[in-house]
Amino acid sequence: MNQSLTLTMPLDMHLHLRDGEMLGLVAPLSSYTFSGALIMPNLVPPVKTLADIREYSQRIIAAMESDDFEPYMTLFYQNYSRDFLIGVQDAITAIKLYPSGVTTNSEGGISAFDIESMRETLETMSELGIVLCVHGETNGFVMDREAEFMSVYEMLAVNFPKLKIVMEHITTAQAVEMLDKYDNLYATITVHHLMITLDDVAGGMLRPHLFCKPIAKRPEDRDALLNLALNAHPKVMFGSDSAPHPRHAKESCGCGAGVFTAPIALQLLCEVFDAHGKLDNLQAFVSDNAQRIYGICAEYKEVVLTKQPFIVPQMYGSVVPMRAGETLAWSVSNVD
Ligand code: NCD
Ligand code: ZN
Repeated sequence: MNQSLTLTMPLDMHLHLRDGEMLGLVAPLSSYTFSGALIMPNLVPPVKTLADIREYSQRIIAAMESDDFEPYMTLFYQNYSRDFLIGVQDAITAIKLYPSGVTTNSEGGISAFDIESMRETLETMSELGIVLCVHGETNGFVMDREAEFMSVYEMLAVNFPKLKIVMEHITTAQAVEMLDKYDNLYATITVHHLMITLDDVAGGMLRPHLFCKPIAKRPEDRDALLNLALNAHPKVMFGSDSAPHPRHAKESCGCGAGVFTAPIALQLLCEVFDAHGKLDNLQAFVSDNAQRIYGICAEYKEVVLTKQPFIVPQMYGSVVPMRAGETLAWSVSNVD
């Protein structure tokens, strides 16, 4: 008998579903194996109003092929008034803050972290229990951008101690260290950042399908992330940051940032946790921690993974996934 593992209610707490045709392609791939996902708002134009949220969540639900998947919606951060936030609170789970220009479709983000101008928004979010998710990078040298952002996390954590702040897709030992410094800091980790370093992206032939923001860092950074995830640190959640770009936009001069992992994320996580003898901790990393941190009760779903080879398709529609054409050690054998 092949070894198997049952995961209940897997959650992806950082997912890009896009819109239009791309949404139609990728939404069913996530809703097949996940109970829900935190949906990123970096559309063009970004998701900023109650009408945007309602209409986008309806388009997501229409694109899914199952009714047991919950899109947890996010707004694109700008300074919102207290009245606006009170009116929108039931329709959203979090607000996502992007520094201006640091990643795909973030041009409308924040260009200076002026605490006083952000106070009304962040205090109201604290009071209403709306989580602040942050893309924590500066515009500095690419390998230092996340580490340079640590002082901003500190400033936010100290000034708004009741605000839950999620350091999204962390990639550095510095962020790992920051996590335990303040009670109100949490983090998501992607599966690709548990597997690759900068060497895999650019150490040999350039691998555009592994290029993302934040860029993968050094082996010691990856080891620090592994230590958190494999031990299911209670303040850490899985967030794939699966970010589909059509093949022509990746295999081009001027490759867009984003790695597409949604349909293989659980298989890859099994591979990583199994390789380290930590499969028992995967349930907490991929669901329990997120349910506790966000206070959500996910749609019931049981996913059985089996240690049986799975050949990753070369393409899903127009998108090339991570590990395209390669054989993974684990496959999804049943979903209930
Ligand atoms: C994301 C995208 O393509 O929207 N890209 C990425 O490299 N992760 C944006 C983001 O989360 O940074
Ligand atoms: Zn992202």
